[in-house]
Amino acid sequence: MTMMTKKRLLSSPELHHLRLVSKIVIYLCALCVLLVYLKFHFQFKLQFSTSFASSATHSFVYDDQVAPLKIAFLFLARGDLPLDFLWDAFFKNGDVGNFSIYVHSVPGFVFNETTTSSAFFYGRQLNNSIQVAWGESSMIEAEKLLFEAALDDPANQRFVLLSDSCVPLYNFSYIYSYLISSQKSFVDSFINVREKRYTYKMAPVIRKDKWRKGSQWISLVRRHAEIVVDDHTVLPVFKEFCKRWPSTEFMEIKKMLQSFLSDDAALEEDLLQIFPKRRNCIPDEHYVQTLITVSKQLSVAGSFKYFTNLQIMGSIPFFYFRFLIRIRSSSCDKITGFENEVERRTLTYSLWNESVKKGNRTVRSWHPATFKYADAAPQRINGIKAINHIQFESGAHRIEWCYVNHRRAPCFLFARKFTPGAAMRLMTEGFL
Ligand SMILES: *[C@@H]1O[C@H](CO)[C@@H](O)[C@H](O)[C@H]1NC(C)=O
Ligand SMILES: *[C@@H]1O[C@H](CO)[C@@H](O)[C@H](O)[C@H]1NC(C)=O
Ligand SMILES: *[C@@H]1O[C@H](CO)[C@@H](O)[C@H](O)[C@H]1NC(C)=O
Ligand SMILES: *[C@@H]1O[C@H](CO)[C@@H](O)[C@H](O)[C@H]1NC(C)=O
Ligand SMILES: *[C@@H]1O[C@H](CO)[C@@H](O)[C@H](O)[C@H]1NC(C)=O
Ligand SMILES: *[C@@H]1O[C@H](CO)[C@@H](O)[C@H](O)[C@H]1NC(C)=O
Repeated sequence: MTMMTKKRLLSSPELHHLRLVSKIVIYLCALCVLLVYLKFHFQFKLQFSTSFASSATHSFVYDDQVAPLKIAFLFLARGDLPLDFLWDAFFKNGDVGNFSIYVHSVPGFVFNETTTSSAFFYGRQLNNSIQVAWGESSMIEAEKLLFEAALDDPANQRFVLLSDSCVPLYNFSYIYSYLISSQKSFVDSFINVREKRYTYKMAPVIRKDKWRKGSQWISLVRRHAEIVVDDHTVLPVFKEFCKRWPSTEFMEIKKMLQSFLSDDAALEEDLLQIFPKRRNCIPDEHYVQTLITVSKQLSVAGSFKYFTNLQIMGSIPFFYFRFLIRIRSSSCDKITGFENEVERRTLTYSLWNESVKKGNRTVRSWHPATFKYADAAPQRINGIKAINHIQFESGAHRIEWCYVNHRRAPCFLFARKFTPGAAMRLMTEGFL
């Protein structure tokens, strides 16, 4: 009824416009079908199983061979892996066809019999690793290198980023089915109203409402890992406007001069003349979180690039282009990126109650608490494993119940930071 009245009220230019719009929609549909076809036919030559819902389909066909989906364990290390013995026990209980391992460590570091007690890590160091400085953008570049290396294996479908002090809290098969049964990524992401790390200089690539914060320790599905690796738009903005303060150079020079000059305050003042103070911004606490909120626009632009690369001439690209312009100019506000394809929480537990003295104030430390042997008692670990919701303090008070595939689940699969002693206790208490 309402449709009919509406139609009658339309004047003929509007009708013309309506026809044009429906034509565009039809073109777009045809285009989508074509793109999907081309993508699957030429780019991947893979046939994925239709659904992750039933456990019988956790495999895919590659060159006519049925192979299980793999989880890529991506370790960001500073040197060796002090907890390799625990991971060795963990992987031994898994199936070798169900996982792969990649390690980013200092350039030149080799994982072999000399440097690790676990054969799972032999030769798994990235060959193109870079020097990483804590809190600097080299950290996110190292993450990207890990995702990039793991994407080379088409069987890798989940990508878990881990530190050298991370431990698993469950056995392999539990963690495998938890991750594989979720079609969403796990990216802790929230809006921190108190924090002042955003600057308007990041716009238009990153608008203020898209700025997010969250744990660095993420787990991504393949599609999102591709977005991270393919990003050449948001990363440069981070490199220019999201920098740690005090910078690594500032700290190094200060430390060097401290041995000659006793007046700390005067030294700092002098150094500030050379290195002007700026906002402190830790890229790895914002990058993937923010990228995911802005990336729908980017992915539309990306598919446009892909389409023009095919060099198909004619009117369809023109309409597609018009469509793109319209998305970018008018309905930008409605696009929230991929946040709805993400469980907004981390799988890695850490305890943030450590405090440090700053002048005469006591503030929360930049580093989470370390679990030593005495802290890894079974009751304590079971307490972490029993956590089923997370309360977010900053911004709007938010409680996130933990789900996997619409079913309630424990929030944490991993924990940090563990000393070798604490890790040894996990092993002897039989947690794996
Ligand atoms: C392991 O790698 C290091 C560095 O390349 C090398 O010096 C050492 O001999 C290697 N050890 C073995 C057992 O291959
Ligand atoms: C690095 O290169 C070595 C030797 O070419 C190779 O055996 C190893 O698998 C490579 N590592 C990775 C993670 O690709
Ligand atoms: C792995 O852990 C789960 C849950 O803790 C348990 O139910 C299962 O029996 C364990 N599997 C193996 C192979 O140990
Ligand atoms: C390995 O993958 C297969 C197929 O997806 C699955 O049936 C099996 O349970 C997995 N093994 C472990 C130890 O999780
Ligand atoms: C942090 O919390 C744990 C457990 O609640 C406790 O054992 C530890 O002493 C606390 N540390 C500090 C510095 O408050
Ligand atoms: C300690 O903090 C108070 C405010 O909380 C301040 O007034 C005072 O000057 C501080 N003292 C020193 C020595 O920094």
